[in-house]
Amino acid sequence: MTQTKTEQGNYKSEGQGKQAIVIGGTRGIGEAIIRQLAAKGMSVVMVGRSDTTLRQAADRIRSAVPGAELRLERADLSLVRDVRNLAERLADSTSPSVVINNAAVTADIRAHTDEGIQLTLATNHLAPYVLMRTLAESIKKGPVRPVRFVVVGASPTVLKAFPVDLDDLHGQAERALSRFPSLRPFAAYARTKNMNTMFVYSLARRLANSGITVNGAHPGIIAQTGLARNARGLEKALATMVALNPFKKMPDQGAVNPVWVATDPSLDGVNGRFFVDRKDVTTPDHTLSPERCETLWERSAKLVGMEP
Ligand SMILES: NC(=O)c1ccc[n+]([C@@H]2O[C@H](COP(=O)([O-])OP(=O)(O)OC[C@H]3O[C@@H](n4cnc5c(N)ncnc54)[C@H](OP(=O)(O)O)[C@@H]3O)[C@@H](O)[C@H]2O)c1
Repeated sequence: MTQTKTEQGNYKSEGQGKQAIVIGGTRGIGEAIIRQLAAKGMSVVMVGRSDTTLRQAADRIRSAVPGAELRLERADLSLVRDVRNLAERLADSTSPSVVINNAAVTADIRAHTDEGIQLTLATNHLAPYVLMRTLAESIKKGPVRPVRFVVVGASPTVLKAFPVDLDDLHGQAERALSRFPSLRPFAAYARTKNMNTMFVYSLARRLANSGITVNGAHPGIIAQTGLARNARGLEKALATMVALNPFKKMPDQGAVNPVWVATDPSLDGVNGRFFVDRKDVTTPDHTLSPERCETLWERSAKLVGMEP
């Protein structure tokens, strides 16, 4: 663990006594985020959808960071009822300094959950929407204290070409996603990553002066993760190019920017921003309009049965 010497000559870890919640931490960048937070001495609640993958990831993290304090929480983030239960459990049993939403999928555009919601939309946007709203409401009932929410987003440069269609959140107009069928799952994914950014801006406005801040963080283009595991055609070709790049970045490098946004003292009080490579950047115009962000907020509330 990273340790610093105190004035009294004792060693102290930077994150000692602090708790983090990481949503989607059983592989890839999420697992690396947990490893880096644990190495700072934070205790981490890691959320995944299967007891087996949670245990396996926890074992790998503990062997890299001996003494890592981990609590495992199972929830299927594609199901609103599971996310609501998870949020209530976490609200009752944790006191986090950091909450990072990392989970995402690139799913078949026709795949819907048994709650009737398109799978990518449910997992990538509605899960953090329900979870962070619920946790924020619960934290706000206690004394004001600094808490950082971080939503792992994606490259604003790439996302420029995939504005959210507010009248078609499920992406039913398939040709409008892309004229190439094999790229449609990626286009639907990219729209949900823009929803992540718009959600950050709407939530940040509501959290002003509450002690809680929320920011977005792009991990970089990272190889050896599970995100493109179902890719085919053109999307698979793009994923192969990333995998074959001799200068490719690995999950540990992908965790650096989100962990920095979650913990660096220079960002105390910074709220409603988006960071790439530790730099504050401007996201695409179509994510910036407060009216569009509010419409997304209201339509998302309706989909998950929350008050707008
Ligand atoms: N890789 C890149 O180049 C890249 C680029 C830009 C942004 N990002 C962002 O970085 C984040 C992490 O991506 P990654 O590349 O590390 O992908 P990944 O390896 O596929 O990891 C995604 C994580 O989310 C979990 N997850 C997915 N669906 C879930 C569900 N229904 N319930 C519970 N957990 C679920 C996965 O669990 P399982 O182990 O059960 O699948 C896994 O732990 C995502 O937000 C992604 O959008 C990645």
